[in-house]
Amino acid sequence: MFDRLPERVQVYEVGPRDGLQNEKAFVSTEDKIRLIDALAAAGLGRVEITSFVHPRWIPALADADRVAGHYPQRADGPTWTALVPNMRGFERALKAGMREVAVFMSASETHNQRNINKSRDETYAAFEPVFAGCAEHGIAVRAYVSTVWGCPYEGEVDPAAAADVAARLLALGAYQISLGDTIGVGTPLQTRRLLDRIGAQVPLETLAMHMHDTRGTALANCVVGLEYGVTTFDASIAGLGGCPYAPGASGNLATEDLVYMLHGMGIETGIDLDRLVDAGALAQRLLGRTLPGRALQALLAGRPSAG
Ligand code: HMG
Ligand code: MG
Repeated sequence: MFDRLPERVQVYEVGPRDGLQNEKAFVSTEDKIRLIDALAAAGLGRVEITSFVHPRWIPALADADRVAGHYPQRADGPTWTALVPNMRGFERALKAGMREVAVFMSASETHNQRNINKSRDETYAAFEPVFAGCAEHGIAVRAYVSTVWGCPYEGEVDPAAAADVAARLLALGAYQISLGDTIGVGTPLQTRRLLDRIGAQVPLETLAMHMHDTRGTALANCVVGLEYGVTTFDASIAGLGGCPYAPGASGNLATEDLVYMLHGMGIETGIDLDRLVDAGALAQRLLGRTLPGRALQALLAGRPSAG
């Protein structure tokens, strides 16, 4: 082990979207902007700032158009991105000036149906014009494949199904596929088997990993990904959130936990861990509670003012 680790990893921050989408009390647009600003100040290079889904399905992000409008893409700043489920979402993202979007579907049929109200076949059909519109306007498309490690409705998911979805989304025009352990059930040997199977069908360098820490296995799975040469990992500040249409899916991997581990392994991220902890502390103040990120709690406790 550990003989072929990458020198540098990109951390893809999902807190403002995947984290806040679960919040029951609406976080004001101004507070969302404070959080995104703090993440950018910590050096995160890619931040998913919101979601152009239906506000009835995700009321917490009903202000997507305002949040995105606040972040015009600058050449020298972080890449801003946002979820888009269909053409209506694409039109909203285009109007808001997004230069990158992320589409999403599930490896399992039932989760896909519950999450976006479509079969997987209907979803490809809905994505085709989105990819075409993005190509026309020079907008980059990332794609998520959810429930790769397990489905809350169907249980085990055939790795071949995840590989097929990943391959089709790449063929449609996605530049990166983020494999999601939506309910946080994955374990390291399973991750090996999945990366062997999916990597046999799509180039490993197109893959990112989106792990949930529901059962404490997210970092162990990331280490397997590192060994396979995966260099993009999704994480959520302070461990905020999960998927509201996946029961039990609390616990995105906390960004501070991931960055702490990567830096300790000598892997560069371009992120200032101290300022990341500031962003995590801000998230806790904005939401008025202690959040699950473990490195955040430990590093805050070690600060001189913590007493
Ligand atoms: P639907 O009800 O089937 O939509 O929802 P529809 O196409 O039948 O349209 C119904 C109405 O909604 C129409 O309005 C549309 O215009 C409107 P009407 O004509 O009746 O006035 N509409 C929209 N309005 C605003 N924005 C839109 C939009 N689309 C349609 N984009 C839909 C289908 C996909 C919209 C809905 O199911 C939805 O919004 N789902 C989102 C669910 C979601 O956000 N889940 C969480 C994110 S996924 C996740 O967290 C997993 C991930 O993190 C990875 C992992 O962890 O594995 C990515
Ligand atoms: Mg997620």
